[in-house]
Amino acid sequence: LPSADLVVYNIGVLVTFSQGPLPGGAARDPGRAGIIRGAGIAVRNGRIIAVGSSESVRSGFTAERLVDAGGRLVTPGLVESHTHLVFAGSREDELEKKLLGYTYREILEAGGGIYRTVRETRARSAGELAALALPRLEALARHGVTVVEVKTGYGLLPEEEMKLLEAIHLLGEMAGPRLPLTIVPTLLAHVVPEEYAGRRDEYVRLFAEQLVPEAAGSPWRPVYVDVFCDKGAFTPEETMRILEAGLRHGLRARIHADELAYIGCSRLPGRLPIDSADHLEYLPPENASILARAGTVATLLPTSMLAVFADRKPPVEALRRAGAVLGVAGDYNPNNMNPSLQSAIDLAVYLLGLTPLEALAAATVNAAHSLRLEGHGRIVPGAHADLVIWDVDNYNKVGYEWGYNRALHVYAKGVRVGGECGG
Ligand code: NIG
Ligand code: FE
Repeated sequence: LPSADLVVYNIGVLVTFSQGPLPGGAARDPGRAGIIRGAGIAVRNGRIIAVGSSESVRSGFTAERLVDAGGRLVTPGLVESHTHLVFAGSREDELEKKLLGYTYREILEAGGGIYRTVRETRARSAGELAALALPRLEALARHGVTVVEVKTGYGLLPEEEMKLLEAIHLLGEMAGPRLPLTIVPTLLAHVVPEEYAGRRDEYVRLFAEQLVPEAAGSPWRPVYVDVFCDKGAFTPEETMRILEAGLRHGLRARIHADELAYIGCSRLPGRLPIDSADHLEYLPPENASILARAGTVATLLPTSMLAVFADRKPPVEALRRAGAVLGVAGDYNPNNMNPSLQSAIDLAVYLLGLTPLEALAAATVNAAHSLRLEGHGRIVPGAHADLVIWDVDNYNKVGYEWGYNRALHVYAKGVRVGGECGG
């Protein structure tokens, strides 16, 4: 018999998402989710080598580790496509300020918010920042995450942003073979630094012409360049200049768009190849088709909506009707300290009206597509062995049972990295 490192059998409901990213209403259709009842999975060298009936997989391989899923639900590992994991300090006093009536943007424009975190982050070394991020990464994994995008953005000045790219690299080294999550580094243009107040054009040029090439040529080369395109951050024109520089240097592009106001950011996917546009609370419904046509994933961040006390919701039904691929992400950042992508899934259901299956697709196969990682987020032979065994027996109970960790076992590349019980 062929050998496997791991066989998971007696899976009650296996959601494979074998068809790949599911646009619009297709993500709500159980017939498109590649569901197998009574399933088994075999894993070797961190990859899935077989998916089939529980009996055929169990009897088809000699397994080093044999795991009885007990009739439970199994899905791909969760794909966290938007985080700001690397930072120092804390902003709990700003929560109180927001509740006393100040808005996120007012706090930012008064030198708090991102600027406050920048000051605290600049005071730490790359190694210290990686050490601060490691328990956050562990918490993400405990709640089911096997792939995580990690942004810079709290350094702003070129040498400080380079330090953050190094910190993301060190985070991966610290995680090591014990925690083999897939980390996708992103260079983020977050806000104009205070040092460049009144000289924003100079800063945009510095970012595009100096930082982007330096980052792209460094040992900590990012996969993505991202821009916070919004009122109080960068304009669409500035965003274009930075993204074009990234694309010229072989990086891929994603954006924060239409979170705090609409200034035209969600029109950019029609002009540049942008893999994901995130937030979108102020997306004009008529722009939904721009994202759909451009193949840009519309990534919803519902926990972040709570954390900024957003007064709008993204136009989900317009996006769905336009046939856009919906993503859901957790947006861990010092303004939104929730390490569970399951919370974002729960709120996507209760606040944004996604079905549990649609939210699961959004946080797995569709999120992987937003990172163009087609070998993650689905359970097919050849894909990475990223799996969650849930403590429920069907996908509708993810969402129905909510607000706590329902991941029982989490495997990244075949290694157990999280879940509720030990061992
Ligand atoms: O995605 N919107 C911009 N960036 C983050 C927030 C960063 C911060 O407040 O520190 C976000 O929500
Ligand atoms: Fe963000």
